Amino acid sequence: MRILTIAKEIQQQILEEKKNGKSIGYVPTMGFLHEGHASLLKKARKENDIVVLTIFVNPLQFGPNEDFDSYPRDIEHDEKVAQSALIDYLFYPSIEEMYPDEVSVKVTVQHRTDVLCGRKRPGHFDGVATVLTKFFNIINPDKVYFGMKDAQQVAVVDGLITDFNFDIEIMPVETVREEDGLAKSSRNVYLLEEERACAHELYKGLNLAREAALHGEDNPEKLVSLISNHIMNYTNGKIDYIEVYSYPELKPLEKVSGNVIIALAVQFTTARLIDNVTFLVHNDTN
Ligand code: PAJ
Repeated sequence: MRILTIAKEIQQQILEEKKNGKSIGYVPTMGFLHEGHASLLKKARKENDIVVLTIFVNPLQFGPNEDFDSYPRDIEHDEKVAQSALIDYLFYPSIEEMYPDEVSVKVTVQHRTDVLCGRKRPGHFDGVATVLTKFFNIINPDKVYFGMKDAQQVAVVDGLITDFNFDIEIMPVETVREEDGLAKSSRNVYLLEEERACAHELYKGLNLAREAALHGEDNPEKLVSLISNHIMNYTNGKIDYIEVYSYPELKPLEKVSGNVIIALAVQFTTARLIDNVTFLVHNDTN
């Protein structure tokens, strides 16, 4: 594994690899790697000649009152995870390398952001789309891997790739969970002990709603109250949102049918957790 910190250098290396006919798989992350990230690396390893991992905590996607400074970081641990995932290149740039001057051009995301985390975190997906545009230009991958844990991010990146004509295939990867069902997340370390003990109830609530929808409950509001009652009964978290949309368009549904996402965010003392389920509801008219 080669570790590089300068954009021009990795760009040059990858150009060489491509000249030699190698396919490039790319996994963007903010580090503090866990098994969720590792599953993206594993899939990328299987499907490409060369695997590139980037680790960069991107200030542009954090709001002024969010956790940029305290976002967990552990590069030594991350290097070990990257080594054992047999990746070829780790690109780990500094903030100065990525943003040497005040940013003069930013990408603005117009669709799929007025709901869920996009509504709650204004500017977040502009920051994600801007940094990914830079990374896509630096790495020029054939395939890029994203976790469905951040399903709205997958929907937004899908739009970015289409709109900006990136010749890149997006590869969504299923959410990796703890044994009790809690979605793995770098932010889980913020949970207090008693909060960790009940955090899996978020996924349980989502599953109750999925089951109800698959058994014919087609009223989105009923699904939302099923989940909110469950979360309020079994956790002390404060519900930020629970929403039901079509996926990946993220349009409101009068009746639950077709490809559906139910997504939620719950605020605990210092951890804000997100999770979702996506599934297909067949109806008679389809
Ligand atoms: P980060 O939160 O580090 O996540 C990197 C990738 O890992 C994302 O695609 C995310 O969906 C995936 N991931 C996280 N937890 C997962 C889990 N439990 N199962 C499966 N995949 C999981 O997402 C970002 O970084 C940033 O926004 C980034 C895309 C790097 C842009 O800065």
